[in-house]
Amino acid sequence: MCGIVGYVGHRQACPIIIKGLHRLEYRGYDSAGVAIVDQSGEIGLYKCKGKVSDLERFLDGKATESTIGIGHTRWATHGAPNDANAHPHFSSSGRLALIHNGIIENFRVLKDALKSHGYEFRSSTDSEVLVNLIEYIQDTNGCSLEEAVRMALRQVVGAYAIAVIERGVSDRIIAARESSPMAIGIGEGEYFLSSDASSIIDYTHNFVYLNDGEVAVIEKGKPLQIKNLSGEMSHVDIQKLELSISQLEKGGYPHFMLKEIHEQPDTIVDCIRGRVNPDTKEVILSGVLDNQDKFLKAGRIIFVACGTSWHASLIGEHLIENLCRIPVEVEYASEFRYRNPIIRKDDVVIAVSQSGETADTLAAVEIARREGAFVYGICNVIGSSIARATASGTYIHVGPEIGVASTKAFTGQVTVMAMLALVIGKLRGTIEEEKYHKVAQALLDLPDTLRKALDCSKNLENFAKIFTYAHNFIYLGRGYNYPTALEGALKLKEISYIHAEGLPAAEMKHGPIALIDAEMPTVVIATLDRTYEKTVSNIEEIKARGGKIIAVISQGDTQLRKRADYCIEVPSTEECLMPIVSIIPLQLLAYYVATCKGRNVDQPRNLAKSVTVE
Ligand code: AGP
Ligand code: GLU
Repeated sequence: MCGIVGYVGHRQACPIIIKGLHRLEYRGYDSAGVAIVDQSGEIGLYKCKGKVSDLERFLDGKATESTIGIGHTRWATHGAPNDANAHPHFSSSGRLALIHNGIIENFRVLKDALKSHGYEFRSSTDSEVLVNLIEYIQDTNGCSLEEAVRMALRQVVGAYAIAVIERGVSDRIIAARESSPMAIGIGEGEYFLSSDASSIIDYTHNFVYLNDGEVAVIEKGKPLQIKNLSGEMSHVDIQKLELSISQLEKGGYPHFMLKEIHEQPDTIVDCIRGRVNPDTKEVILSGVLDNQDKFLKAGRIIFVACGTSWHASLIGEHLIENLCRIPVEVEYASEFRYRNPIIRKDDVVIAVSQSGETADTLAAVEIARREGAFVYGICNVIGSSIARATASGTYIHVGPEIGVASTKAFTGQVTVMAMLALVIGKLRGTIEEEKYHKVAQALLDLPDTLRKALDCSKNLENFAKIFTYAHNFIYLGRGYNYPTALEGALKLKEISYIHAEGLPAAEMKHGPIALIDAEMPTVVIATLDRTYEKTVSNIEEIKARGGKIIAVISQGDTQLRKRADYCIEVPSTEECLMPIVSIIPLQLLAYYVATCKGRNVDQPRNLAKSVTVE
């Protein structure tokens, strides 16, 4: 989950590492640290609890001149977020320093064995075991660091991306990966290392992505060597990453999240570009069209995802069942992977993930592949593990999402699912031509619709202040907008730390309505659709019990304007695309409630952006 950055070359390593860590801080912010090999060949190791800015202050005045270094921001899995548990970790003798992203599952057994050989531990992390194991192997076998790393990793069970440096060696970093991302940036006689290529895009656009079970020998001025754990050479495949630095900056907004909310009209343009023809309204997704037979004979579609991507998948279920008449199941990847699921050869499994690195979703992909299903990916991060592990897929192309709370990825995912449903529906002949054209046109109009939705929400900042008192919120929706209610509730929980529950509106009377009183605001998505009248009745039931209603309504709806306590208007679109529009005010409501409460919305407590551990 953490961020890893490394450098070896001719420039000063520390500033490059600190800059990269700042970019990666959204992935974990419990502590930060850096290790370099100094002028005398000693390892200088500096780390502290807190953010990268705390590390910067800590480094102030220290002698950090070096052209090699590794750095880390931590999202703690084993051991409290304190100085001792911060990475990098020294080996017992201080000869090696290591950073690690992931979890070493068999660390207890390894730790006990190392203790019996006299090894002492300074931290309670699983990661420190790894650096001591490598040192132990090197000492007992008299082998090189690279060989020791390969031998150590053969004994390890778990997930890792690691980087190791050695005292007296100022031109070589050894890195490896298993189920955790690691990219190596190729410069002119220099190399960069990161758990997310975008963090080092200032220096190079050429990257090699390590595969599971690979170890890289990264040596200044020499060709990059990649080997498997047995030492056999692997092919070095250099890929270009097209990304601009401005996409990684806040662009004048106080938070990435607010920038990303406001970017959505443009990110939808990028998402549908070249896929919906404005003249013919033809929708083209090459990933589907190249695998037509799989979708034509699909007995079932199973979505696997987590968090926001799971909510988007619930909307995908409605879209595909309505427009393609294929039965759909939506699974939490974390449940699916351990449930011994029934997977048939004619199943199409669609993995949905912004980061493309979520460990549970990746594991679900592996299971589906093993069982012979056709596995399709809907990812944002180009070249990510899930994108590479799936047989085919569609990128959502919304650009880097830095805010921990997912916003533009959600609208991009639903947009891709709508396009997917149109393409499959047309192939299978389950969608009428008129409907196909209407939805395609609505997709083309979506950027403008979202601009209007953002405009309607501009007073939300003042309005949100009223609700900072609340300890609980209920979010209600029906049909396509039930998942929107779940997503709205998740946004509020994540960044304001206010408890919120999303429910199908009609479920209230089966229990949750008991929670209603004047202290419990209920957010209802009540736009003009086929369940509108029913939702209005659900609102009346809440009002009759003294509840306060915040309603997301269609522009011009005078009925609810009179009945709800507070209204936020949104423009209309095709019903199946409505979640993309109605989520906008809910994202902003969560944002403003959280900022009124003084929360750090880009780095909410306990969370990290890419959940690369189970
Ligand atoms: C959303 O706001 C979250 N922080 C989280 O639920 C996220 O959607 C989930 O971890 C899945 O991530 P992915 O899309 O990168 O796989
Ligand atoms: N498991 C390690 C720890 O708790 C690494 C966590 C991370 O990926 O940041 O220190």
